[in-house]
Amino acid sequence: MQYLPIFTKLDNKPVLIVGGGEVALRKCRALIKARAEVTLVAPSFCDELHEHANEGQVILVSEHFSASHLDGKMLVIAATDNDSVNNTVFELANARNVFVNVVDDQPKCTFIFPSIVDRDPITIAISSAGTAPVLARRLREKLETLIPQHIGPLARLVGDFRAQVKKRFKHFADRRQFWERVFDSSVVSKVQTGDTEAAVQQLHGMLNATPTPEGEVYVVGAGPGDPELLTLKALQLMQQADVVVYDYLVSDEIMDLVRRDADLICVGKRLGNHSVKQEDTNQMLVDLAKQGKKVCRIKGGDPFIYGRGGEEVQVLAENQIKYQIVPGITAAAGCSAYAGIPLTHRDHAQAIQFVTGHCKKDGQELDWQSLAKPNQTLAIYMGVIKSPHIQAQLLKYGRDGKTPVAIIENGTRKEQRVVRTQLSQLAAQIETHKIVSPALLIVGEVAALHEQLAWFGKTTQVSSFAQPLTDVA
Ligand SMILES: C[S@@+](CC[C@H](N)C(=O)[O-])C[C@H]1O[C@@H](n2cnc3c(N)ncnc32)[C@H](O)[C@@H]1O
Repeated sequence: MQYLPIFTKLDNKPVLIVGGGEVALRKCRALIKARAEVTLVAPSFCDELHEHANEGQVILVSEHFSASHLDGKMLVIAATDNDSVNNTVFELANARNVFVNVVDDQPKCTFIFPSIVDRDPITIAISSAGTAPVLARRLREKLETLIPQHIGPLARLVGDFRAQVKKRFKHFADRRQFWERVFDSSVVSKVQTGDTEAAVQQLHGMLNATPTPEGEVYVVGAGPGDPELLTLKALQLMQQADVVVYDYLVSDEIMDLVRRDADLICVGKRLGNHSVKQEDTNQMLVDLAKQGKKVCRIKGGDPFIYGRGGEEVQVLAENQIKYQIVPGITAAAGCSAYAGIPLTHRDHAQAIQFVTGHCKKDGQELDWQSLAKPNQTLAIYMGVIKSPHIQAQLLKYGRDGKTPVAIIENGTRKEQRVVRTQLSQLAAQIETHKIVSPALLIVGEVAALHEQLAWFGKTTQVSSFAQPLTDVA
């Protein structure tokens, strides 16, 4: 990180601007807003700066810059059109450890002015560390449209209640839960519609009510790995959780998005390496919720597709624990899209079957007769280890050995690999290319469309990850 984002209080603090023209004026306006004690030094000043001086907002010193002008200043801005003067300001200020900004000369800035989304008292600052100001401005425009105007009044209102809330709830966690309840309540819509009085009344009511900490479990699907495939709801609940219970399939980039101070519990789950038994995970969710915690049970893909989310929700229901289920993009949908393989296609596949290669412990066999039928696509989850068996059974029950197959490893992630082959070569290709988990097998004529459509897949891939797919024919 080149610049640490901090918000400084400049109220009555001495700041120097070297320069008297338009650029100096722009910086001056921002500093006046922050109520800084602004001195400008320059041989002459534009009219508007004189007006600010007449109103007592700034002090104008009509002199050439010299080192003594820096005495006692906290911040200095060099805003002249003379490189040599700007350079001298930078050298002298830097030598004294005074923060300095030479306008439009990023290497000579020890502090910078970020782009700002202003919903006072909420302020969002965006910086590209001087590398891409236009990109930073575009981001600001996006945020301007996303952040509602009533956020400012809402922040002011709750600010008025902070001291009372602190007195009422001694523990930080209780205060946080109180505020979560407030922001989930109709206090927000009341402020939004301008009914501040009703919002204040409701806040008083909530403050005086006896809180019954009610735990809840969010069973959230995180998708196959690309964080941009998370749903808005998933992200929102990940940010609200006190505890996040996750397994290996959830990518690191997604785990980076959970609430910073949430407790993280890994319950493992890699084939043959279940670090916590499913029954224990179920019980853990119940116990945490009974302690009044908001628990985010986050799973790769969709929780209800080979995710054992069904079992977990059954146990929550039996124990009368409140829960929400957030669907995620399942591996079949995500991986096929990123590999340019449509799962159905008018000419090639009228049906799609989701299958697991990892059968139940009792060895219950799949309905191979049905799976071997033509004109359909099979999306086989957890099929790598059992690929020799899958291949043999499909061939035995009549699927053509030339049926196209795609093996998608780490689908939608930076390291995505697609191996294209045919059914008779499935197991051998898995062996040759040392396919690792997670990997999805797609069997059916649609897999051959990868060659034609992966270009589209590659373009999305390049823009997301700046790195092309590794294709193995
Ligand atoms: C236990 S299942 C979980 C499936 C998940 N609930 C879903 O809806 O995608 C794990 C299997 O999903 C598939 N899978 C999940 N994420 C994947 C990814 N990013 N790339 C390829 N396969 C993936 C693999 O077959 C893996 O062995």
